[in-house]
Amino acid sequence: MVKPVITGRTKLVGILGHPITHTLSPAMHNAAFAALGLDFAYLPFDVRPEELKNAVAGIRALSIVGVNVTVPHKETVLDSLDVVTEAAGLIGAVNTIVNHDGRLTGYNTDAIGFLKALEDTGFDPRGKEAAVLGAGGAARAVGAALGMSRIRRITFFNRTLERAKELAQMVAGATGVQSTAVPWEEMGKSGMSIIRSADIVVQTTSIGMHPREAECPPVPADAFRKDQVVVDLVYNPAPTRFLKRAAAAGARTQDGVRMLLHQGAAAFELWTGRPAPITVMENALKTAQAASQVAEHP
Ligand code: ATR
Repeated sequence: MVKPVITGRTKLVGILGHPITHTLSPAMHNAAFAALGLDFAYLPFDVRPEELKNAVAGIRALSIVGVNVTVPHKETVLDSLDVVTEAAGLIGAVNTIVNHDGRLTGYNTDAIGFLKALEDTGFDPRGKEAAVLGAGGAARAVGAALGMSRIRRITFFNRTLERAKELAQMVAGATGVQSTAVPWEEMGKSGMSIIRSADIVVQTTSIGMHPREAECPPVPADAFRKDQVVVDLVYNPAPTRFLKRAAAAGARTQDGVRMLLHQGAAAFELWTGRPAPITVMENALKTAQAASQVAEHP
C-alpha cells in the first residue's frame, strides 16, 4: 500500500477515546482514503474524561472534519455538541461527529451498522423475537435498531435490572415494540426458554473481550439451537467463547467485526460524501485485527 502523504490541504478526522491503543479504526479509514485517493488522514486521540470538553472544542478550533467517539465518551459527549440526530438522542450515545463550519452534529452509526451487519447474515428482523444480553450503550443502539426494524419482541437481560427496564421502556415508547427486562442470573434458569425461542440473540456486554477471553455469559449450551442467529458485538477476540458455544450448537453466528465495519462505513460517508469502499475497509480491518491479536499473543 502507498503511504499517505500529509499536505497543507489534508483534511483531518480521527477518534476520541480512552484508552485508544487498541482501536482498529485508523487502519480501516486510512485504507479507504488511500483507495479512493482522498486527501484525508485519520488519527487516534487519547482523551481522558476530564479533557473531553477541551477535545471537542479542539475539533472546532483545529477545523477537524469529524471524529468517531468511543468508550468512555459516547454518552458524555452529547452535552458538548450543537445538534444531535433524533436516533442518537434516543439511544443517548454519539459515536460520530461531523463538523459543519464549526457547528458540531452528533450521529449514532452503531444502530445502522448493526442493521447492515445483520443484513449480511440474511436475517430479516420483521416479526421476529430477540434476546439482548446487556443494557449499556451498545445494547441501546441494538435495541433501537431492532425496534425500528419492526421486530416483534425484545427481551433484555442485564446484571443491573433497572438499566434493562429503562431500556425496555425506551424501545417500547419509541418504536411500539413489546420489550421486557429480565435479571441476568435468570439466563440459565427461567430465562433459558426465552433465549431458546428467540430468533436472534445479541451479546452486547464486554464479557469475553480481551483480556477476559475465558469469560462467557451464563447461557447454557443447550439454550442455543440450529438456525438461530447469534451475534456477539465483541471483535477482540473474534470469535469469543460465547460465539463458539453458539456455533457448536448449530447457530448461525456473526462476530463484532462486521458491525465495526458498517458503523465505520456510515461515518466515512458522513465525512466524505462518498460511498465507502467496503471490501477495502473489511480487508484493512482483518489485517489490523490479525496483527493486534499476534501482538497480544506473540
Ligand atoms: P457499552 O457502551 O460498551 O455497552 P456500557 O454502557 O458500560 O458499555 O455497558 C456495559 C454492559 O455490559 C452493561 O450491560 C453491563 O451490565 P451493568 O449494566 O449491570 O453494568 C454489562 N457487563 C459488563 N461486565 C459484566 C459482567 N461481568 N457481568 C454481567 N454484565 C456485565
